[in-house]
Amino acid sequence: MVNSVNQGDTAMPVPRTATTARHQDLDLRLVQGAWPDDVQGEVVFSAPQVAPDLAYALFGFGVVCRLSLRPGTHGAANDRFAWRARVTDTPSQRLHTRAAERFRPGPTGYASPFGFPNAANTAPLPWGDRLFTTWDVGRPVEVDPVDLTYLADVGAQDGWGAPTMPNPGVLPFYFSSAHPVVDPERHCLWTVKLTFDASGGMQLHVVHWDGTGTAARCWPIEGGIVFGSSHTVSQTRDWLVLADSGNFKTDSGEMAGGPRTVTVDDDAAVYLVRKDQLLGAAQGTPVTPVRARVAPTTGHFYARWDDSDGVRVLFEHMDRMDLGFKLEPGDLDAHGRPVDPALVGFYNMGMAPSTCSEVRFDPTTGDSRVEARFREDWTWNLELSAMDWSAEALARPTRHHIAYQGCRPGAVSQRAVAAYGDRLGPIPEHDTPGALVSLERGGLEVAARWDYTDTGDHITSPAFAPRQEAVPERGTGTDPYAGAEPGGHEGWVVLPVLNDDGFRVELFDAARVGDGPVATLATPDRECVPVLLHSAWMPRAVAHDPGIERLRFSDEVDTVDLTALGDDVAATVRAVADELDGRVAVR
Ligand SMILES: [Fe+2]
Repeated sequence: MVNSVNQGDTAMPVPRTATTARHQDLDLRLVQGAWPDDVQGEVVFSAPQVAPDLAYALFGFGVVCRLSLRPGTHGAANDRFAWRARVTDTPSQRLHTRAAERFRPGPTGYASPFGFPNAANTAPLPWGDRLFTTWDVGRPVEVDPVDLTYLADVGAQDGWGAPTMPNPGVLPFYFSSAHPVVDPERHCLWTVKLTFDASGGMQLHVVHWDGTGTAARCWPIEGGIVFGSSHTVSQTRDWLVLADSGNFKTDSGEMAGGPRTVTVDDDAAVYLVRKDQLLGAAQGTPVTPVRARVAPTTGHFYARWDDSDGVRVLFEHMDRMDLGFKLEPGDLDAHGRPVDPALVGFYNMGMAPSTCSEVRFDPTTGDSRVEARFREDWTWNLELSAMDWSAEALARPTRHHIAYQGCRPGAVSQRAVAAYGDRLGPIPEHDTPGALVSLERGGLEVAARWDYTDTGDHITSPAFAPRQEAVPERGTGTDPYAGAEPGGHEGWVVLPVLNDDGFRVELFDAARVGDGPVATLATPDRECVPVLLHSAWMPRAVAHDPGIERLRFSDEVDTVDLTALGDDVAATVRAVADELDGRVAVR
């Protein structure tokens, strides 16, 4: 599989600008097709600032970007579409801005005398007219949907309980989930916390926050051990669905400075936890889950709301995707070619085509049955998808739209290939194109497929926008997240495309993605946009409600003995706390 090194054949697996472009406001223009009148709302994105000083450059502080789907809004000219980008000015980010020299690169981002900063850079999470941004190593963070500034962390530390790792300072270290879920019936947010366990794995806890105030609750899941992460939280009406994502395993040898040798397993644990059992248990009381397994490992999964006939889950598997293997200086790629230095710090891309499956679990026994499975020799690098998140569609989903990025052998390191040995099949020598694919829910038949021809196109972060003539007004009783025909087929798929020749956004009819984009937006002067992670659609962007009680950084600071941190650190903390208090006071 591994060819001789050819120094003249430096692969270009993803756009160089994915790691070198900077985030900025842009007013996009229509360059192809006709923009429909019945696409409304905003698509929001989370992204990391690329941090060259971190071994994993994608652990940089978060940015939220927002694309307005109506021209002439949010400051754009009548024929332009506002793309707005703002660094999330969390306490962590503000402390870093004031005292960057005190932050040291570590395996999960920075460490500092202030504590472990929350980069909040992975996924946007709309909740009605509120907007949150998340990552796996911190509490969710609320931002203002209009100006994208920081509002508050979710849940006070006394509710979250003991941190993953105790540390001095004012920034607690919590392993959590980048995909908490909003419960439309119980009107709360469910997420998780992980703490280290004597077994070498991590103990899973469920965290509950009702959205009002600062109180959170936390329960350990009995025997709920994960060895990777708990990247996604999904739900049915009565059950939470948790899993050991398994695609990012801690390697203690690597953390001690050695080479990475740990590989991901062939399957992973699934835990079904009954919501009423959690809510009926006192804070801190262990709750017993129903256990099951799933294969291959999986990062993202989505349960149907209706669980009257079992817990039914669509899994986006990450076959032979090992996010622990980042690209390092001097790396050779899957075929022995030097890895483009611009990609150092990027993640190691997929080493096999990706599977998608629909699985039905019996929540009384944990027995499972795979009801549909989809995997082709071209389904490389399934990472991101678009679906209708309205409550109506979660009950009766019709279509699931997946962006397959294609095989990128130049972003697969030879170290990773060697670590997996004969557990890998052949990896194509050359890049294969990406594709946007609509799968029918239930049987996972391909309803439509649009193939890209330019492997310089890095398709990413699709979002589904329901077809709407107008966004329902507040207080009318109509769910603004639901279109006329919820499910995922009646509306639009918004697909950003990174390319070194300029960033663009393509709009597809969700019923016919195979017809290609009906309209394309592009940056005015072929500006590029750096790597984007997850996206989400929300029907409108309105300023936050200042009447909602939110956690204040200064209140958390007041619980810490700052004198123990030294005068400089204490003064910086106090300055940031005052800055945020002042900002909140004048808003
Ligand atoms: Fe994710």
